[in-house]
Amino acid sequence: MKNKLIFLYAALIIPCVVAALPSAYAASEENNNTEQLKKGRALFTQICSRCHKTSYDESIVGAPGLRDVLERHDEAWLNNWIQGPEAFAKNDSAAKDLIESNKFGLAMPTIPAMQSEENRKAVIEYLKTLK
Ligand code: HEC
Repeated sequence: MKNKLIFLYAALIIPCVVAALPSAYAASEENNNTEQLKKGRALFTQICSRCHKTSYDESIVGAPGLRDVLERHDEAWLNNWIQGPEAFAKNDSAAKDLIESNKFGLAMPTIPAMQSEENRKAVIEYLKTLK
């Protein structure tokens, strides 16, 4: 009788635990993404928003609005650009054309905080939300 109860108990509990595992895993992944996004938003606000708007509109310094920017460039390109626009433009014609397009002759600078791959990833995650 006791054995039967233990069996019954196990039969009830095990499926619940197994069912809960994937959702716990998904939740922790979601938390990581949220953290990265938060960081990306903070970096954008501190650094990028001085020159860029999050709409389609060009800013007062002539920097392009960054809405839908992932439709214009892929992630690998953005990663290179954000790390060092001028260095990247030496061997990328799209980057070179972009720099030459600024009507005020302003070029996007190489930003010390963007030498960190982690920071660039976070900012790109944030850029993905601008649609
Ligand atoms: C001092 C002003 C300035 C700052 C700060 C700045 N940018 Fe830029 N950015 C520009 C300008 C100007 C351009 C246009 C190309 C050029 O003239 O260099 C540009 C272009 C871009 C582009 C290409 C947009 C397109 O439509 O093709 C992206 C993406 C970008 N910047 C992202 C960023 C991110 C992310 C940050 C913050 C980490 C940042 N920029 C900080 C001035 C700036």
